[in-house]
Amino acid sequence: MSDVARKRKRANELNGSQWTKYSISVWSDIRKSAEERSLKHPAMFPESLITRLIQCFTTSDDKVILDPFMGSGTTLLAAKNMGRHGIGFETNREYVELAETRLSQQSLFGEDDYEIHNASAQEIPNILAPESADFCVTSPPYWNILNQKRTADNKEIRNYGNIDGDLSLIDNYHEFIDALGLIFQGVYKVLKQGKYCIVNVMDLRKGSRFYPFHSDLARKMEDIGFIFDDIIIWDRRLDYNNLRALGYPSVFRLNKVHEFLLIFKKP
Ligand SMILES: C[S@@+](CC[C@H](N)C(=O)[O-])C[C@H]1O[C@@H](n2cnc3c(N)ncnc32)[C@H](O)[C@@H]1O
Repeated sequence: MSDVARKRKRANELNGSQWTKYSISVWSDIRKSAEERSLKHPAMFPESLITRLIQCFTTSDDKVILDPFMGSGTTLLAAKNMGRHGIGFETNREYVELAETRLSQQSLFGEDDYEIHNASAQEIPNILAPESADFCVTSPPYWNILNQKRTADNKEIRNYGNIDGDLSLIDNYHEFIDALGLIFQGVYKVLKQGKYCIVNVMDLRKGSRFYPFHSDLARKMEDIGFIFDDIIIWDRRLDYNNLRALGYPSVFRLNKVHEFLLIFKKP
C-alpha cells in the first residue's frame, strides 16, 4: 500500500490512547477557560471542544472547517491554531468584530488564514463552492429561548442582539426547525462526500412543554440526506453551578447539565 493510500485510510491522526479516551461517549472534562468566560457572547464554545472534534473527525489534510453560526469565532480560532482554514457566517456585526479581535490576538500560524462572512448562513451555497468544505462544526441558536424570561435562575436576558435574519427571532418552533433545515441543506451542498457535520444542541423546555430539539433536528438532517452517525453527550456539570430544586414540590423537573454533539455524515 502506498503512503498516500495508507494515509487516506486513516480517520484522524490520534494515537491509540487518545482514540480510546475520546471514544468514550460522555465528555466530562471540557469547560471554558477563564478568558472565554469573560467574553461577551451568551453561548460560546470552549476552544478545547472544537479542537478535540477536529482531532477526532478530520486529518490534517482536511483543511476547510465551516461554522455556519460562528458567534465569537471559537471554531475559526481552533481551526487556525491547528493550521486549518476556518470559514464562519454570523449575522451580528458585534460578534464578527469580537471574532476578528480574538483571531488577530492569536496567530500561531502567522498568516490570517480564515474567512468571515457577516451574513446569514442561508447564503452558504451562494458564497461557497459545492463540495468545498472538509468539516462543519456549529451550534445554532437554541430557538428563541434566550429571549425568554429566565425562570430557572432569574438571571438577566442575554440574546444575540435580535439582528435581521437571526433564527432565534422565529417564534414558531416548527418554523424554526424548518429554517434550520434550509441552512443545513446549504451546508450539505458545500460539504465534501464522506465528511462530517457536528451540531451542538440542547433539548428545551418552555413551561410544561418539552421540546426534544436534538431528535427533531436529527430527523430534519436525515431528510436532507445526512447519515445520523452517533451522539456524544457533553457533560457540563463543571460549568453549571446554579442547580436548584426545579418544580419543587409540585412537579419533578430535570436540571439539564448535558448538551448533545450530534454527529452527521454526508454519504
Ligand atoms: C449558539 S451561538 C454560536 C456561538 C459560537 N459557537 C461561539 O463559540 O461563539 C449562535 C450564533 O448564531 C448567530 N445566528 C443566528 N441566526 C443566524 C443566521 N441566520 N446566520 C448566521 N448566524 C446566525 C447568532 O448571532 C449567534 O451568535
